[in-house]
Amino acid sequence: MLTMISSKSQFFPLKVKSLRNTTEDCVLVSFDIPSDLKKNFKFKQGQYLTLRTNLKGEEVRRSYSLCSSPIDNEWTVGIKKVEGGKFSTFANETLKVGDIIEAMIPEGNFWTAVNKEAQRNFVCFAAGSGITPMCSIIKTHLTLEPKSTFKLFYINQKASTVILKEELEALKNMFMDRFEIYYFLTKQQRNIPFLNGRIDQEKLDIIFKSICDINRTDHFFICGPETMIHLTKDYLIEKKVSTDKIHFELFGTDQKVQAKKQEEIAKTFKGKRCDLTIIEGGKSMNIVMEQGANNVLDEALNNSADLPFACKGGVCATCKAKVVEGNVNMLLNYGLEPDEIEAGYILTCQALPTSEKLIIDYDI
Ligand code: FES
Repeated sequence: MLTMISSKSQFFPLKVKSLRNTTEDCVLVSFDIPSDLKKNFKFKQGQYLTLRTNLKGEEVRRSYSLCSSPIDNEWTVGIKKVEGGKFSTFANETLKVGDIIEAMIPEGNFWTAVNKEAQRNFVCFAAGSGITPMCSIIKTHLTLEPKSTFKLFYINQKASTVILKEELEALKNMFMDRFEIYYFLTKQQRNIPFLNGRIDQEKLDIIFKSICDINRTDHFFICGPETMIHLTKDYLIEKKVSTDKIHFELFGTDQKVQAKKQEEIAKTFKGKRCDLTIIEGGKSMNIVMEQGANNVLDEALNNSADLPFACKGGVCATCKAKVVEGNVNMLLNYGLEPDEIEAGYILTCQALPTSEKLIIDYDI
């Protein structure tokens, strides 16, 4: 029997099958997927799960990349404990095997299709927990594309904080002639200066002069903090790499930039009324609000709507919807492609209404 999904915001209860620490502050959580949900939970390498739980009466939801490969028939996410992080602290300190966590079906665009006949070269840059989707991507392509190669540049603070080291080394042993890893450490000095410190312009020059041929690389995957993503992406674009070869997944955005822009827009539209209509799951709701005062998602949640969202940071695109009528001003967008923007899609967690009438549809 196939369970029908009635709304994009639907969560499913999943039992924790196993827990394993990959470092002192990072736990790998595997879920049991009931057989009637396996089809819904089918995923692509590089996708993520949005998890939800209740902590001290507060609903907390976060998105975590699947580090397992679709070929494993396993659903495992890596959760690194972050300072003050409610979900990540709970997962690392309190979560037990057998507990129930709610999850949305896998989502995300950080992948490219497998081509079993292809002979392709992939180059990956990951920092910290940015390795989690990368592990899934690398394993899947190396296994299913017997002629393809991977080079991974992986940045961590210290050797002891390298997440998924065992899994990466096992892949290196299995695909010795097609997979190379370069570990960079930022808080531990080693004898090879090139491998000390963050990735910068100089290191990128060395990488693309001596280790990788930029023109013979078919896909670039980048996952980590904003600064690393911008640096690497801009470097590749400057070297005339076509943007459809560059895939990136951002772990965290600069909240200060977001807050400043929001303040300016709120000031510009102060006192102007917006009649907002939201359509989701075949139902619609109406809200009257001030233009620019709040984003569409938060305004709707404050009015008891049940809408899909995860990161609230403009990254995951879980909150994507279409503007049917009216205008919005988006603060950040790391989740939508230019053709989606052109077609009228927005990230509702980033969209401030800037017209008298606004109709948003989550169903199209
Ligand atoms: S909730 Fe992630 S982009 Fe809006």
